[in-house]
Amino acid sequence: MAHKSTLCHVFYLILFWGMMSCSEKNVQKPSELTLSEGFKNPIGFFDAAPAFSWKLPASEGIKTQSAYQIVVASSKELLPNNPDLWDSEKQNSSQSTFVKYQGVDLKSRQKVFWQVRYWNQDETVSKWSAINAFELGLLKNSDWKAKWTGLDTAKDSIKGVRKFLMHRPQYLRKEFTLSSEVASARLYITAKGVFDVHVNGKDVSDDVLPPGWTPYNKRIETITYNVSDLITSGKNAIAVELASGWHSGRISRGTAVYENFASPKILCQLEINLKDGAKKVIVSDASWKGTTNGPIRLASLYDGEVYDANLEMPNWSTTSFDDSLWQATEIEAILDSVKLEPKRHETIRTKAVIEDAEIVSSTKESVIFDMKQNMVGVPKVNVPMKKGDTLTIRFSEMLLSDGTFYTTNYRSAKSTDYYIAATDGVIEYIPKFTFHGYQFVELSGFDPSAEPKNNWVKGLVQHSNFKKNGTFSSSHEKLNQLQSNITWGLRDNLLDVPTDCPQRDERLGWTGDAQVISPTALFNFDTHAFWTAWLQSMRETQSEIDNGLVPFIIPDVLQNNRASSGWGDACVVIPWDIYNITGDKTVLEENFEMGKKWVAYYQSKAKDFIPDTHSFADWLQPYPEKGGKMGNRGDTPGKFVNTAYFAHSAHLVSKIAGVLGKTEDEKKHKNLYKDIAAAFEKKFFDENGKFKNKKQTQTSYLLAIYFDLLQPETKVKAQKHLLEEIKKANNHLGTGFLGTPILPMVLDDMGEIDLMYEILFKETYPSWFYSINQGATTMWERWNSFSKANGYNPQSMNSLNHYAYGAIGQWMYERIAGLAPLEPGYKKIRIAPIPNTQFLTSASANLNTPYGKASSSWKLENGIFLLDVIIPPNTSAEVHLSKSSNQDIFINGNILDESSPFKLIQKNKKNIVIAVRAGAYQFQTKIKSDE
Ligand code: BGC
Repeated sequence: MAHKSTLCHVFYLILFWGMMSCSEKNVQKPSELTLSEGFKNPIGFFDAAPAFSWKLPASEGIKTQSAYQIVVASSKELLPNNPDLWDSEKQNSSQSTFVKYQGVDLKSRQKVFWQVRYWNQDETVSKWSAINAFELGLLKNSDWKAKWTGLDTAKDSIKGVRKFLMHRPQYLRKEFTLSSEVASARLYITAKGVFDVHVNGKDVSDDVLPPGWTPYNKRIETITYNVSDLITSGKNAIAVELASGWHSGRISRGTAVYENFASPKILCQLEINLKDGAKKVIVSDASWKGTTNGPIRLASLYDGEVYDANLEMPNWSTTSFDDSLWQATEIEAILDSVKLEPKRHETIRTKAVIEDAEIVSSTKESVIFDMKQNMVGVPKVNVPMKKGDTLTIRFSEMLLSDGTFYTTNYRSAKSTDYYIAATDGVIEYIPKFTFHGYQFVELSGFDPSAEPKNNWVKGLVQHSNFKKNGTFSSSHEKLNQLQSNITWGLRDNLLDVPTDCPQRDERLGWTGDAQVISPTALFNFDTHAFWTAWLQSMRETQSEIDNGLVPFIIPDVLQNNRASSGWGDACVVIPWDIYNITGDKTVLEENFEMGKKWVAYYQSKAKDFIPDTHSFADWLQPYPEKGGKMGNRGDTPGKFVNTAYFAHSAHLVSKIAGVLGKTEDEKKHKNLYKDIAAAFEKKFFDENGKFKNKKQTQTSYLLAIYFDLLQPETKVKAQKHLLEEIKKANNHLGTGFLGTPILPMVLDDMGEIDLMYEILFKETYPSWFYSINQGATTMWERWNSFSKANGYNPQSMNSLNHYAYGAIGQWMYERIAGLAPLEPGYKKIRIAPIPNTQFLTSASANLNTPYGKASSSWKLENGIFLLDVIIPPNTSAEVHLSKSSNQDIFINGNILDESSPFKLIQKNKKNIVIAVRAGAYQFQTKIKSDE
């Protein structure tokens, strides 16, 4: 018997071991490893204390993570068993996003390798992930041996539009010789201005307008390129084109803000490891040569570019070029007061090419092309020309109904490019140091004998290099067009900073517009790093000002020491939105002090909790009492908006303090919020919940209700007044920049879903579909910016590309399609679609959450409601279904009853909430259309 038992004992052991090894073998490795705000294997990385994130494989067996282990080393060979930088060891936790590095201090230029593995819900360990890596950039000013280098272009600058100085673009170059082959080489570079760098005649990158725009008197971003394959032993040449950009060019209508239009300069440090072990460093200094006699004669972001092909300098960026007649460059030292830090988000890139432009009119002199999409970027023109002729390229957002090429709404921005031909024949030209916002392009000055062709113009769509993140679609063509207009509005205005508009003499980082659109932006595009980078500029700008004021615009080119409620609050609202959507606490830690100081700013301006500070209020509310400019602020009083946002920001600071464990601050700001709310209700609402103001507005009730500023009994009464105001507007919206984003949230909470659908699907002004009926392909600044019948709104401030009203997107994704975060970062998801049979038969939202793909797609067919849901691993969800009474629910074809493996969280006749884990599900039930 004993023998028998040892045999079967061994048998079970082998079986168990086999199972173990095969189950271990089966627990797939984690994937999509990223660093901090979503970086994959970056070089020139900004963060020496990164956060690690990974995803569990979306496969049947993987539900949740019970533990993880991260190992970090200075070489691949040490992984996974001998990490010399950090070993987290096994951590019992389901956290798989933003795990902070806690190892040995990392330093500039350091190359670091890392791996991760996890234990699944059955405590079975996975395989180790693939090895990922990151290489840090130059983190400190002291890492730079280079000097700011360039020509003094101020002395021969040109008086441009409005007598603003225009610097001639510079061409700078340097030759150097290497004694042996190159093992590796890194080019660290930036500019006061914008640049394009070449090595041995080759473009180093496809970056557009690097390094981008920051508060240059505080911080200038640096960029790192791997140029190992571009440099060889022997003679080499590095060459840089340099133009004014945001640093030295006309920006905003005000005065010069950066070093008084100082001449643009480059800062460049090429670090080469040679195969013979030697290290060579080439820096920008007085040994560089320069000229302003290159083909780009003038370049301005607002006004366009002038390119003279007769001045092209073949091979100027190679070693076979004679620059002996060029000027010596001037140098400047690096100031400690201006931090040089690796760029912490993606550069701008050409992200798409519009190839199907169509000629809409042409004469011998000029031809007009329709790109069919209001886009941002530059044209690529291939046009037959005569030697010496000048091609003029103009841009417009919308032609008048008589075909007039309308540019008045560009205001003082000339936004025109010129190309002077050097030969007869077809030329190709892509403007480099400017960008335009346009749907229509007019060409004139081309070879008059040539027959214009559609392919003469292509559109290079340019924006920060973020990826698509989420999608929304539905059965309704105009709702889908609205989604397209929202996403194009975002592409067109997320150009290194979030701009209000891309075409006129503004294009500025307006804070109010940004705070209303950030949730919709984060759904559609992976803009986590984009926003956190901009928030750093906001902090740097606030810190300059003593009383915690956050200016209207970041970077602050107005420098008028003024703030507005609803705008400055972006410093609290955006971090809170990013945290809830990504689950990344770092954004709260980095911005908490800024938020506290902003609330203190309100306090410094408040008497009895009513702040007396400037407010743009409910900007561009339709049908304002006052006409013209004065009406732009709508009829909801500034003091009302100040107090509402003072309370809201204090409340958010309290919640943020709670998440960060700052209990003192949490309590203090919670009490402050309550005090302000009490003062607010007393001052602005009567006992019937009516807004104490001659002119009633929808937004006054929306802010009071959405920010939870009224006692429950007053709130109920106020909700009635809101419905009356909407009724008075024939069930149209009557809201501007601040009321519009919260209108759907408030009506939804009130259960007024059908009313919100009616408002959303309105075709007449003011509504989202009105602009679509007038031909909109982006979001407009005004609800009536243009009409086919009357042309452009006469107001001079009138852009056809402002994303603020696109904030409706959030409600479309979270409620119409029904995909929303229930816990930060979608760790828990709420699937709660609200199908409306009057307007829709289907809607769908898909999102790449920090844990993987999540999806909510429903359709109505013959009274059958089908809902397909995907829940990523390591998360869970609550699925809300409304059903006709006594109708059964089927999940993956099985009837839902007591024996089902699903936990019912709530059940009443009409609504049921089901808890589900990771996986794919199809819910089915009957819906009576009249119900
Ligand atoms: C900008 C808007 C901004 C508003 C505030 C306008 O000029 O285009 O984006 O929100 O000013 O007043």
